[in-house]
Amino acid sequence: VEIPEKLQQIMKHEGVVAIATHGQDGPHLVNTWNSDLQLTGDGCLLIPAGGMHHTETNLAFSNRVLLTLGSREVQGQHGPGAGFLVEGTAEFLPSGPDFAAIKAARPWARAALAIHPDSITQTL
Ligand SMILES: Cc1cc2nc3c(=O)[nH]c(=O)nc-3n(C[C@H](O)[C@H](O)[C@H](O)COP(=O)(O)O)c2cc1C
Repeated sequence: VEIPEKLQQIMKHEGVVAIATHGQDGPHLVNTWNSDLQLTGDGCLLIPAGGMHHTETNLAFSNRVLLTLGSREVQGQHGPGAGFLVEGTAEFLPSGPDFAAIKAARPWARAALAIHPDSITQTL
């Protein structure tokens, strides 16, 4: 799945990203900032995990994730404000090149949360 240019524009503006997982105790929601996201050459989204222990536990139960992000500063389908829903799978990377890229930008990260999108839908 190719990362749309519009999503890359959103990453250049600040906003809150929501990342939903599910586990034995049901759905779970965490956040990062738009400006903390990184893209890999092969179309994955990387997120710095400082906490996210519950999220990590959930991913061992099911690797399915949902992610939403948006920005009022980017032109959307109905005027100012654009956003996306990303559906895919995720994994924790505590080492390797993707972790090194995240760690260089956010030294507090204990791992990179890598999202592999199956579908990317513009919702606004
Ligand atoms: C706006 C915002 C940004 C956040 N950014 C991060 C982040 O980049 N990395 C992180 O590990 N936690 C971040 N958090 C905290 C997580 O949402 C989460 O509560 C925490 O990591 C614990 O995760 P867990 O419930 O999966 O254990 C952020 C919270 C908010 C409200």
